[in-house]
Amino acid sequence: MAAFVVPCVGGVGAAAAAARRGRPAGASARRPLRVPAPAGAAAAAGRRRAMVPTATAAASAGGSPAAASADAVAPAGPRTHTITLLPGDGIGEEIMAATVDVLDAVAARFDLTLSMSSALMGGAAIDATGEPLPAATLDACRASDAVLLACIGGYKWDDLPRASRPETGLLALRKQLGLFANLRPAKAFAQLEGASSLKDEVVNGVDLMVVRELTGGVYFGTPKGIDTDPATGARVGYSNMVYHDYEVQRIARVALDIAMKRGKSLVSVDKANVLEVSQLWREEVIKAAADYPEVALSHMYVDNAAMQLVRWPKQFDVMVTGNLFGDVLSDCASMLVGSLGMLPSASLGDGSGPGVFEPVHGSAPDIAGTDAANPVACVLSAAMMLRYALGEFPAADAVEAAVEAVLDAGWRTGDIMSEGKTLVGCKRMGELIVDAVSAGGK
Ligand code: IPM
Ligand code: MG
Repeated sequence: MAAFVVPCVGGVGAAAAAARRGRPAGASARRPLRVPAPAGAAAAAGRRRAMVPTATAAASAGGSPAAASADAVAPAGPRTHTITLLPGDGIGEEIMAATVDVLDAVAARFDLTLSMSSALMGGAAIDATGEPLPAATLDACRASDAVLLACIGGYKWDDLPRASRPETGLLALRKQLGLFANLRPAKAFAQLEGASSLKDEVVNGVDLMVVRELTGGVYFGTPKGIDTDPATGARVGYSNMVYHDYEVQRIARVALDIAMKRGKSLVSVDKANVLEVSQLWREEVIKAAADYPEVALSHMYVDNAAMQLVRWPKQFDVMVTGNLFGDVLSDCASMLVGSLGMLPSASLGDGSGPGVFEPVHGSAPDIAGTDAANPVACVLSAAMMLRYALGEFPAADAVEAAVEAVLDAGWRTGDIMSEGKTLVGCKRMGELIVDAVSAGGK
């Protein structure tokens, strides 16, 4: 069988090697950064792994079928891929069901065998096992070529202690799988003109990529806790925003590699006017960028970046930022596209384990079970999975083209509904995408 190719694996090596160079000696003992296997080796070992992408596929991750076709060469022969599905909570079951149907349709069209099995994650896992990320789920993920996650969380589990909350399971999954790079493309769909709360002239043609660091920063920094201040008796809560130089180096290089394949422009977002951690972030990004003289690097404080995203988003090509700022800015970027229901994401590591592909949105418990959810972000996450993790470029293109075709035909879920369009539910939207995939896309 043809060697599985994650586009431009050399770039992964470059990022990982640079990160290793900058890594303090003691750090490897805490969490070793494994050397990514060369693409050939991965294929020879029968495994397909999602690595941090550095080539055309990354550039095209905005969901445009056209942009990806340069690399769209179908690997020869029948191909089997193992996928762990994590439907999670809230609208998760509904959007996952729609997405699985789309994957079945694309498998039939492209002669793929997709071996998909579901595992418990988040609140559903808490109810069944008491833990948000049961060991069996983590094992299943590790044994797969890729993981597709819908969404987790809900009111029901909001009052649990932090260690047993659904979100803690998601963070553990990211950390355990070493998924340090979260790619969140925001590309305006021409068909959705009018869906954004912003003016059409502001959002038409937006095509940007938020590269969010995913396994560090204030999400994971220690010390953290809620204690009583012994001096005053007041309750005190604290979290700690920590970045090591190697963590900044490796995410900066991922973003720089992606920028090289897009518009060669990178904005690093920090709060260096106030935070020491951001000062280090900025210094390390500048160092990393020295190896990329063609990329125009600039820096923005996060408050300004939030404002610029809604003022004139077309100024952005690639943005790189830390975990918390990336969480906030990517939600903000979703409104440029019209709805959080349209935004996919890919969480990738160094290639030694599977990537996790998941919508940017949450579990929307308020509409769970009402068939009102938009499955498109999950379907587009599956397309990212086909492209980044499984090397199935034509299949990925076909899924994205099918989504466009359905939008072209005027079908809309409630979140992207506008005058003159036809409102459908989650299930019907999925069926329409299936039909478009089977019919051959646009
Ligand atoms: C996201 C989500 C998660 C995060 C939550 C559910 C833990 O908001 O993926 O953006 O904060 O990373
Ligand atoms: Mg978020």
